[in-house]
Amino acid sequence: MRFSLFGVLALSGLSIATPTIAKRADAVSVLTDLKAQVFTFTGAINATLATLSPDSSAADKAAAVPEVGAQITSITSAVNSAIAELNSLAATPEKRSPLSIDAIEAPTWEKRQEAAIIVAVLLAAIFVEIIATLLGAIAILGGAVLIVFTTPLTAALPLLILAVEALLNVVLGGVTVLLDTLLTTLALALAGALGGL
Ligand SMILES: *[C@@H]1O[C@H](CO)[C@@H](O)[C@H](O)[C@H]1NC(C)=O
Repeated sequence: MRFSLFGVLALSGLSIATPTIAKRADAVSVLTDLKAQVFTFTGAINATLATLSPDSSAADKAAAVPEVGAQITSITSAVNSAIAELNSLAATPEKRSPLSIDAIEAPTWEKRQEAAIIVAVLLAAIFVEIIATLLGAIAILGGAVLIVFTTPLTAALPLLILAVEALLNVVLGGVTVLLDTLLTTLALALAGALGGL
């Protein structure tokens, strides 16, 4: 499945107040770390699935479920840690040298838009990677056995957007629309409503 990042950018809905330079750098760094962690876990899920196909025996599929489930739970933990980190950054007043230009200079509109686009692209990449991998797992293992693992994850993802929005004082409309679409697709797949499940 492919999603246009340009579509996300076009829809970004960049309503922005004044995130400081340091907070923008922090948000980008938290999301960059999260993206790397997510790709490690989705890579492990794909490696487990690589030995299976929809025609594999029920026993082989059943054996893969706890492994895939543990990786999904690791993704959920990583997302929740990132949310906690973003929330604590938002709650922490910034420490700055009184001589720092950043402390008094309001970021330009271009700088603020640039930061919002960078976090939007990171969030979109994280969401697409997670949902595409889950759809691959569901296609092979079925939705019923995975829903217990996916439910906490799908509950956490919208909170990640909210945490970034709160930290940077931006509205990430395009990313929210993208996530809603992905979660709807996932819900249909989990319910066995897509394809020949
Ligand atoms: C895992 O597989 C999905 C498709 O099933 C793909 O979209 C995703 O990029 C893959 N991730 C990694 C890290 O291999």
